[in-house]
Amino acid sequence: MDYTKREVSEYGSARIVNCLPEIGIDTVVEEIVEGLSCRPKRLSSKYFYDKEGSVLFERITALEEYYPSRTEKAILRDLPLCSLTDCAELDIIELGSGDHSKITLLLEKIPNDRLSGMRYVAVDISRPALDASIRELTCLFPGLQISGIVGDYFQQMHLVTGARQKLYCFLGSTIGNLDRDDAMVFVRNLGETMSSGDSFLIGFDRIKDTEILERAYNDDGGVTARFNKNILNVVNRLIDADFDPDDFEHRAFYNQEERRIEMHLMAIEDMRVKTPYVKDDLFLRKGEMIHTENSHKFDEVDIAQIADRAGLSVDRIISDENMWFSLVQYMKG
Ligand code: SAH
Ligand code: AVI
Repeated sequence: MDYTKREVSEYGSARIVNCLPEIGIDTVVEEIVEGLSCRPKRLSSKYFYDKEGSVLFERITALEEYYPSRTEKAILRDLPLCSLTDCAELDIIELGSGDHSKITLLLEKIPNDRLSGMRYVAVDISRPALDASIRELTCLFPGLQISGIVGDYFQQMHLVTGARQKLYCFLGSTIGNLDRDDAMVFVRNLGETMSSGDSFLIGFDRIKDTEILERAYNDDGGVTARFNKNILNVVNRLIDADFDPDDFEHRAFYNQEERRIEMHLMAIEDMRVKTPYVKDDLFLRKGEMIHTENSHKFDEVDIAQIADRAGLSVDRIISDENMWFSLVQYMKG
């Protein structure tokens, strides 16, 4: 994650702009140091996604234990386009686009002559993920206008501009990684910028048996544990610290009250961590946790409430037969 250089890369006619410098490294350092200085310690899950983190997440999506990706993909494969892409001049904006495998399932359904009037804009904090996926998408869909914004969708939605009709996609239940209040604010803000006829497709992981949920975040092969620990490598680079990820254990469990999976890193011994941004080092006690991620789970009431607060209507909810995952189309009336 480069918060210093505003770089542009080009793949054929597709352009990717790194807009993270607009946020600035000072803000990032401040946020990380503050999170590691408070009790309980916390880090934002957006810092998982450097090159290694994006690759590890892609491996997670293929795990047998991690049902959300394959379940959402099956829904997308069967999804009738209906009103989603009716407009000939449409901007498709994907937030947290990751490895492009899900948007590909949607784009494949649109005939080539229609695609040539459309634009696809991917917004993701991970430049390596964006580079790889945009390169591949330009080959898969040569007629489509494609661009990428390396940016933070929570802070930088103003970077997505244009007066054409829009379809926003926020897949993977990535909305669940925002705190519930932040998710409301996020959708409300986006709802305010949407025009009549625009739609918003969001994936929601649903509340289900604790055993199934906890298995998905504690895979036998330890890929999720590596993904979780890798955040410390990212933090080392951003605040010039000397965390050793192997000094921590992966912990993931379902918090019934908050209706979310929580991921933490537990210190296996007392330790001091150096960073030039903390005068007397960071100190962690044996057993102390760093809270690295929340993954909220949703039900029908949540889905309706989000629409209500954002001034949107629920156009359709499509779920798998187990009701494990729902794809929801919100519309601006
Ligand atoms: N939508 C994809 C990827 C989900 S993983 C799928 O369903 O498979 C979450 C993605 O969101 C990652 O690619 C990560 O880099 C990106 N991401 C996480 N926090 C972000 C933020 N604050 N702003 C922009 N992208 C973010
Ligand atoms: C991207 N996000 C929705 C994933 C999730 O399930 O919360 C990230 C993840 N964390 C651990 N495994 C997958």
